[in-house]
Amino acid sequence: MSKPKIAIVVGSTRAARFADVPTQWIAKIAKTRADIDVEIVDLRDWPLPFFDEVASSAWAPSQNEVAQRWQKKVAEFDGFIFTAAEYNHAPTGVLKNAIDYAANEWNKKPAGFVGYGSVGGARAVEQLRLIAVELQMAPVKSAVHIAWGDFLAVRQGEKKLEDIEHLNQAAAALINDVAWWAKVLKAARAADAIAGEAQAA
Ligand SMILES: Cc1cc2nc3c(=O)[nH]c(=O)nc-3n(C[C@H](O)[C@H](O)[C@H](O)COP(=O)(O)O)c2cc1C
Repeated sequence: MSKPKIAIVVGSTRAARFADVPTQWIAKIAKTRADIDVEIVDLRDWPLPFFDEVASSAWAPSQNEVAQRWQKKVAEFDGFIFTAAEYNHAPTGVLKNAIDYAANEWNKKPAGFVGYGSVGGARAVEQLRLIAVELQMAPVKSAVHIAWGDFLAVRQGEKKLEDIEHLNQAAAALINDVAWWAKVLKAARAADAIAGEAQAA
């Protein structure tokens, strides 16, 4: 079986975003692993409108062309690491909208989070875990939380994420969890597909 493909989804899009810093850091660490393929998926490249379909794509095919391409993109991956900015104690609207614009393509795949903010994006991450469950994803235990002291020091250029040992350890644990679940669930989805084909024959 081929290596699992892991997307690092950049969950905020504003011009002055901090998201690029944790994205590049986690991608660099993830890319050192030989057992997974890693790709950055930047929501800036996916100009989805605010959700405007007759139903979730689980129930009715989406009409919007970007949405159709987005669903195909999500389907390419076996697992996801989302950068989780926290806006008013919640995930960003742009990330929730992008999540809503796919459905089955998220199913039975792991989701991990790199949160940042005053409490390391913990409130946004916890909400994203609940959303992930509704999408039949497997949200993993390990997470990165870049909390206020580290967040400010990195944003002000006083520190680099690479030099903060507890965050490097958290990143390794997160990637381990996502890679493990991605492998297991990829094999299980493949077994389901074979069983489905045998039943149809
Ligand atoms: C609209 C808005 C609401 C915010 N609310 C919170 C919050 O509830 N908790 C928090 O820790 N940080 C909050 N912040 C600060 C963000 O953590 C900080 O701006 C961070 O850089 C946002 O991620 P981004 O730069 O990738 O957009 C908020 C920022 C914005 C723009």
